[in-house]
Amino acid sequence: MYRFFRSILFLLPAEQAHHLTIRVLRVCAIIPGIPKFIEWCNKVSSKKIQRTFWGIHFPNPVGLAAGLDKNGEVFPEMALMGFGFVEIGTVTPRAQDGNPTPRLFRVVQDEAIINRMGFNNVGVEEMVENIRAGRKRYGGQVVLGGNIGKNKDTDNDLAREDYLACFEALYPYVDYFVVNVSSPNTPNLRALQDKEPLSRILLDIKGAAASKPRPKPVLLKIAPDLSPTQLDDIIDIANTTAIDGLVATNTTIGREGLSISADEIGKIGAGGLSGKPLSKRSTEVIRYLSARTDKPIIAVGGIMSAEDAMEKFRAGAKLVQLYTGFVYEGPALVSAINKELIKYHSAPA
Ligand code: FNR
Repeated sequence: MYRFFRSILFLLPAEQAHHLTIRVLRVCAIIPGIPKFIEWCNKVSSKKIQRTFWGIHFPNPVGLAAGLDKNGEVFPEMALMGFGFVEIGTVTPRAQDGNPTPRLFRVVQDEAIINRMGFNNVGVEEMVENIRAGRKRYGGQVVLGGNIGKNKDTDNDLAREDYLACFEALYPYVDYFVVNVSSPNTPNLRALQDKEPLSRILLDIKGAAASKPRPKPVLLKIAPDLSPTQLDDIIDIANTTAIDGLVATNTTIGREGLSISADEIGKIGAGGLSGKPLSKRSTEVIRYLSARTDKPIIAVGGIMSAEDAMEKFRAGAKLVQLYTGFVYEGPALVSAINKELIKYHSAPA
């Protein structure tokens, strides 16, 4: 069914297809019987795929990556499609438009996407309203991650205030937080991955979390373009700030693994590359990190098949997330990964 839907969606420019999908899901959510039907089509449940990390119960370890439900509009529908958790955002304190369009490009022959969206979002207050509405219309529990960022016009010196504002506003509504300093599409954002500014932001957020009656885990999302020395720094920072885990990785600024011509790559322009070409690099980063830290890692980057997901688990990931693979393969990919995990855990040792 998704293949049919995809053949129509892919006739549209990528961003229009994205908005149409969100709208269709919103409509489906209010037609009696449809949510149950979507759930029936996609649900895989088994004790073998349940996980618990940071005291959070995950019905399965396959999540939706940040950036698809930027405003928290369709997270219940994503849970109905089989995801075990949904990361909403990146959200910033104030609403912002993001970069000029076109800013989202499919590279179908390489199962890839290039985007330079630039944190377009409705701002954290409206996101809170969306979460409340979503929780109301959906009876079940959805594990929610809040991916937080800074506004484009906020100076890096003041970035910590933006992260804190998002943290405070979202605290009652999400189960875990992801500090995003690794998007390539907000000028200078990735400079915040440097030791000093990053430590300051994470210490602030961890301090705020510790002051709550029930602290919630704080994770850091990192770029795939970091050198081994920079990854070592990240591990140091993760230890000294006592954050709870890592999300690896965001999109890459590299263009390796694309089969299209240099001319076509040039025409698309700047942005982060995701999907199949990112898979190997993202796995290398996860393997490097998991050999050096016990902090749980959420793997994201180029998971296009159940085997890709298993590769990430073998590299040390505890949970996985999809974005581009979901765009190309639909909800069948989520159930395929969960079924593969059930098979793996059922096999004689
Ligand atoms: C993203 N991604 C992303 N990540 C993030 O932390 N905040 C965001 O707002 C976005 N926005 C976004 C938009 C679009 C169009 C894409 C394709 C991606 C990155 C995403 O969460 C993920 O880390 C990468 O895309 C790598 O995973 P996949 O796509 O290869 O599965």
